[in-house]
Amino acid sequence: MNNNRIDFFREAAPYIHLHRGKTFVIAFEGEVIESKEFSQLIHDIAILSALGARIVLVHGARSQVDKHLEALKHNIQVVDDLRVTDDITLQVAKETIGALRVEIENQLTHALSTPPIINESLGVLSGNFITAKPLGVHNGTDYQHTGTVRKINAKLIKQLIDAGSIVLLSSLGFSPSGEAFNLRYEDVASATAKALQADKLIFIHNDNATPTTDIELRELNEFIHNHPSQKRLLNHIKTSLLNGVQRVHLLSTKTADALFLELYTRDGIGTMFNASLYEETRQAKVADVSGIIDLIIPLEEKGVLIKRSREQLELEIDQFSVIERDGKIIGCAALYPVDNNTGELASLAIHPEYTGGGRGDALLKRISNIATDKRLNQLLVLTTQSVDWFKERGFTLGDLSDLPDKKKALYNFQRNSKILLKNILLA
Ligand SMILES: CC(C)(COP(=O)(O)OP(=O)(O)OC[C@H]1O[C@@H](n2cnc3c(N)ncnc32)[C@H](O)[C@@H]1OP(=O)(O)O)[C@@H](O)C(=O)NCCC(=O)NCCS
Repeated sequence: MNNNRIDFFREAAPYIHLHRGKTFVIAFEGEVIESKEFSQLIHDIAILSALGARIVLVHGARSQVDKHLEALKHNIQVVDDLRVTDDITLQVAKETIGALRVEIENQLTHALSTPPIINESLGVLSGNFITAKPLGVHNGTDYQHTGTVRKINAKLIKQLIDAGSIVLLSSLGFSPSGEAFNLRYEDVASATAKALQADKLIFIHNDNATPTTDIELRELNEFIHNHPSQKRLLNHIKTSLLNGVQRVHLLSTKTADALFLELYTRDGIGTMFNASLYEETRQAKVADVSGIIDLIIPLEEKGVLIKRSREQLELEIDQFSVIERDGKIIGCAALYPVDNNTGELASLAIHPEYTGGGRGDALLKRISNIATDKRLNQLLVLTTQSVDWFKERGFTLGDLSDLPDKKKALYNFQRNSKILLKNILLA
């Protein structure tokens, strides 16, 4: 068998495992449905579902609605990049979206059954999962039947995708009184990803591909400036990230097999946007004292860390390193030289919401480096509750006799901390 195929399978295997049970909202514009790549895309989505991903599809219909309106010689009114939906446009949108929905359902049902890759799933389901509200009047323009998403019936969608069905959503929504509204598929996709707390929101468009790269939220404005032809979609992606969607992928039908290459290869093929905020590990400054206090007080109260007053912290701030994430201190650690040989690692703390991400390790490494720069030979830790954590990182249990004299005198017998030591020259 061709080695490339085997290599691809080896590379893909961990991703197959990773994506099982994850929720993906996949949104594509109307042009994608008309593209020659669409039937392959539908087949790939069926396989993704068969591999255990929970899938919600959202389709657009803008180009098809425009074509019908042009055929009717009806005026297409767009103000500030947003369609004004009058009575005729709404009627056309309902008919067009209805027809597209049937077409997609049909293709997907076919893909799910030839070859029969889906087991006991319910196949593809569409329905009235979106409550809409009118957009109203903006800067003097009455947008009439153009609406925005008011609520997504996440509970029902979750039940269906949990059972293995693919849910198909379109850009029509209804108010509680039964009035229909024409929505933007990008809004529906973004609101759905948020309501479902989806693991990924994937937009597929029919224009030229944007670069294969990762973009952080803080880099997005510059990216939008450099890719003006994608401005509309990129602005939606920005809103999605600001609204709490963690990861958004942008793929183009112009890249063959983009969906699989993005999801099952290490480097991906599309542009991935993530909401992860700015984070850095650095030397602490006096302005960080309040943040450090907020972080360590709960641990001091539980007896995990030794109490340090604000004054003491201000005086000792140079000994501290911190992890700052979007302006908030989420980790800290200090190094106190004890004598010429030993430094004490103290006040190591990671905010409970951020533990398990290797940050404790990162701070320990930083403190070890600072200690070696100071020509210290060993690190000492007094801990009551994290003995194993340090042992797993090369520390060994010591006793009182191992403490430098200066430290022996200050040892708090009541606290009964365990004494852990690590020779950092060997590290
Ligand atoms: C200990 C602490 C700093 C680890 O931070 P972290 O960012 O979660 O660390 P890492 O991500 O590098 O390591 C996480 C691993 O350590 C384990 N761990 C966390 N706390 C532990 C503890 N008290 N004892 C043993 N293991 C622990 C986790 O289970 C995880 O293991 P896994 O990877 O096998 O799932 C953090 O839990 C903390 O702030 N604890 C309270 C303060 C404290 O005890 N400080 C030490 C005294 S100075």
